[in-house]
Formats: sequence, structure tokens, C-alpha cells
Amino acid sequence: MSDKTAKLTIGDETWDLNVREGSVGPDVIDIGALYKDTGRFTYDPGFTSTASCESKITYIDGDQGTLLYRGYPIEQLAEHGDFLESCYLLLYGELPTRAQKDDFVHRVTYHTMVHEQMTRFYSGFRRDAHPMAVMTGIVGAMSAFYHDSTDITDPHQRMIASLRMVAKMPTIAAMAYKYHIGQPFVFPRNDLDYAANFLHMCFAVPCEDYKVNPVLARAMDRIFILHADHEQNASTSTVRLAGSSGANPFACIAAGIACLWGPAHGGANEAALNMLSEIGSVDRIPEFIARAKDKDDPFRLMGFGHRVYKNYDPRARIMQKTTHEVLAELGHQDDPLLQVAMELEKIALSDEYFVEKKLYPNIDFYSGITLRALGFPTTMFTVLFALARTVGWIAQWKEMVEDPSQRIGRPRQLYTGAAPRDYLPIDQRR
Ligand code: SDX
Repeated sequence: MSDKTAKLTIGDETWDLNVREGSVGPDVIDIGALYKDTGRFTYDPGFTSTASCESKITYIDGDQGTLLYRGYPIEQLAEHGDFLESCYLLLYGELPTRAQKDDFVHRVTYHTMVHEQMTRFYSGFRRDAHPMAVMTGIVGAMSAFYHDSTDITDPHQRMIASLRMVAKMPTIAAMAYKYHIGQPFVFPRNDLDYAANFLHMCFAVPCEDYKVNPVLARAMDRIFILHADHEQNASTSTVRLAGSSGANPFACIAAGIACLWGPAHGGANEAALNMLSEIGSVDRIPEFIARAKDKDDPFRLMGFGHRVYKNYDPRARIMQKTTHEVLAELGHQDDPLLQVAMELEKIALSDEYFVEKKLYPNIDFYSGITLRALGFPTTMFTVLFALARTVGWIAQWKEMVEDPSQRIGRPRQLYTGAAPRDYLPIDQRR
């Protein structure tokens, strides 16, 4: 407990509020007793100044443009590690030893298959259903198949549910893709690593062998690392709130997937690529920059801006580097959309509107170009984001469930509706 206090004075009354310090980052003013002591709520609809929880998992410094998973900079994890190592780190708090890594990889590998009856769920969807709609439905349905890992009070069941989610999301995502394009499902293979297995399940066909390109598999793995967790973003906060009622982990992750789908959040990678395609050529960029600045035009530059980053999103830098690597490997260096993206970034970053509002490219700005080059349709982009973010959602859900002070989340409101009034019989209404 820090010895710092904040004073709140309303009229001739003053209250002391305890100020708590984190290991890094802003202090927080503890207002847990504010309503009980003052009869008043705080008001912060977008949670721009509100810490919803205490967490030890991920830290973002928006001004510095830094992102840490359990204290490790994202740049180092993306450069030197792999996705399952980051999954272990996010879930258990430390980088694994060689033995711990091997055991974790083995356990994930042997949980990648889904219950065979789940395949029938897919056939209930139209082929042209958006894969995010399929993901939301299928993941929610997991609680109907994996009853033995839905008791959130049992640490063993929580661990099994966590492993199942991390292990099965690539299989579920690949099946959503295959169903969408009318090709047969491809089973996971235990001889392939996580990212290679996912690419194989997406792009292999029964008629011939499919060799995974190691450069593309490494790029896919790095993209998963970049998307794994990100503090209390909208979808993570959704998972925490759903979990605070005691809902099972599969239902909570399905809620997170639904929230992530929005174009202001995880849907931005699909929206950003569609925007780059609509711009089409470098000479049309000024027209779109003007629209983004026009208060009367709801258009925004998709892939730009961020609630927390008021500097360059560190993930966007790594994403841009990965984009160049993938396009070079595939011989698409002159992809016109990449030219448009790089010119758009250059113009936007020198425009006083974007400078003044501290709008920088975020992770979604370059990811779409890379994912399209890897062979995915735009409708699959947010599915890949959900696949990678599942470990972050699960780690945050686990941290919340294991917090002894955890209570059901139940915000209050500022009510500006009708004052109390009596019922009026219908023939007296005007
Ligand atoms: C993700 O939270 C996370 O961590 C999310 C995420 C994660 O990993 O989980 O990082 C993933 O969601 C990244 C963000 C992807 N979304 C987009 O790229 C969509 C485009 N961006 C915007 O919709 C917006 O920037 C948000 C939603 C990302 C942030 O919105 P905020 O923090 O509520 O900011 P705001 O809407 O209040 O904007 C502040 C000002 C406004 O102008 P004023 O009203 O002050 O005059 O900046 C303007 C906005 O109009 N602005 C933009 C803009 N983003 C903000 N203007 C033009 N283009 C944009 N992209």
C-alpha cells in the first residue's frame, strides 16, 4: 500500500483517496469506496482514465511506444523466440526452460484435434458466412463438447481449458477457412510446428503433398507473437467481464471473438486492406487524407491511431519488416498496395492533423498486406488475430479467476432519463 493519497473536495467536504503505485507506469487512485463514502460515481464511458484491474501480464507505454509481455520487450520476443514460447510466458509468467518448453509443445501438439462431431457445426453455416461468425459459433459450442474443463474453480480444469483453446484455435480457424472456400478439412499434423501446422491445414489439399515454406511459417509465427496480448483492450475486457460472472472459458473466449470483430478493433486489419484497395493508387491518397480529416465525414484511416499508443506501435514496425520479408520471398516486392501503404504512412506522418492528434500506424496497418500475400482472403484476417489473441484472453481470464479479490464486474451509470412518473391509461395519452 503506498503512503500517497489524493484529496477529493466537493463543497465543504473532503475525502482522502489512496494512491497505488505499479511496478512501472501511472499510479492509480483507488475509488473502490467512493460511492459508499461520497454517494457519487466517477464517469469515464470509454475507460480512457480507468484501470479496470491489477495485472502482471502485459504493459504498454503509449508515449514511448513500448510493449512488454511479462517484462520482455515485444521486439526481443519476436526476434529470438517463437509463439508457443510466448504462450508459455503469458500463461505462466516466466520464459520456459528447455524441458518446460518441450513438455508444453508436446501437450499443445496433442490437443490440436477437435471432437469429430464439431465438424457438423460447420455444415450448418452458409458457405459465404463470414469466418468470424463461424468462429464465434464454433468456439461458443466448445463448452458443449469439453464439459471436463468448464469448472473454473478447479485449477486442473483451468489448465486443460487453457491448453485446449491455444491448441485448437488453429484447427478451428483453418476449418472455417476450408469450409468458406469449399475444400475438405485438413487434419493437424504432429510433425509440424504450430505455425507450419496452421498453414498446412489452410493450404494443403488431399490431391498432393503441400510443403510449408519455412520463411512464411516463421512470418506467420511472428505475426501470432505480435497479436498475442495487449493489456485491457476491448476484447480482453469483454473476456474478463464475461468471466467475472463465472461463465466457462469457452463462452468467455467466444465473447472476446465477437468484440474483436468490430472494425475499430480487430476488424481493422480487414478494413485497412479494403481501404488500401479502395485508394488503389498513390495519386488518390490526398483525397482520403482529406476525408479522414473532415469532421463531417465518418471515414477514418483504418490501421491508424490507437487509444494507448501516442507514438509508433512497436508491433507495426515489426509487422512492416515482416511484410517486406514475405513479399520478397514471394517475389511481390512491387505489390501496388505496399507502395500505397508506405506513401500513405509517409504523407500522414507529415500532416499536421495526424501529428497533432498523435495518430501513427498501428499493428493493423501492414498486417493485411502480409496476410493477403500469404494467401488469406480479407475475411480471414480477423480470424488470425483471434487465433493469436486467444492465449492473451486465456491468460487474462486465468489471472482474473485466480485473483482472490475478484468480484463480478457491474459498472454504474449517469442516469439522464425520465424522472419517476405514474402510469397513464392509453385513452389519456396524447
Ligand atoms: C486494435 O486497445 C488495443 O490495444 C487494441 C489493439 C489490440 O492489440 O488489442 O491494439 C488492436 O484495435 C488497434 C486499433 C485498430 N483500429 C483502427 O485502426 C481503426 C481506426 N482507428 C480509430 O478508429 C481510432 O484511432 C481508435 C479506435 C483505434 C482509437 O480511438 P480513440 O482512442 O477513442 O480515439 P478517438 O476516436 O477519440 O480519436 C481521437 C481523435 C479524434 O478526433 P477529435 O474528435 O479529437 O477531433 O483522433 C481522430 C478522431 O477523429 N482519429 C482519427 C483516427 N483515429 C482517431 N482520425 C482519422 N483517422 C483515424 N484512424
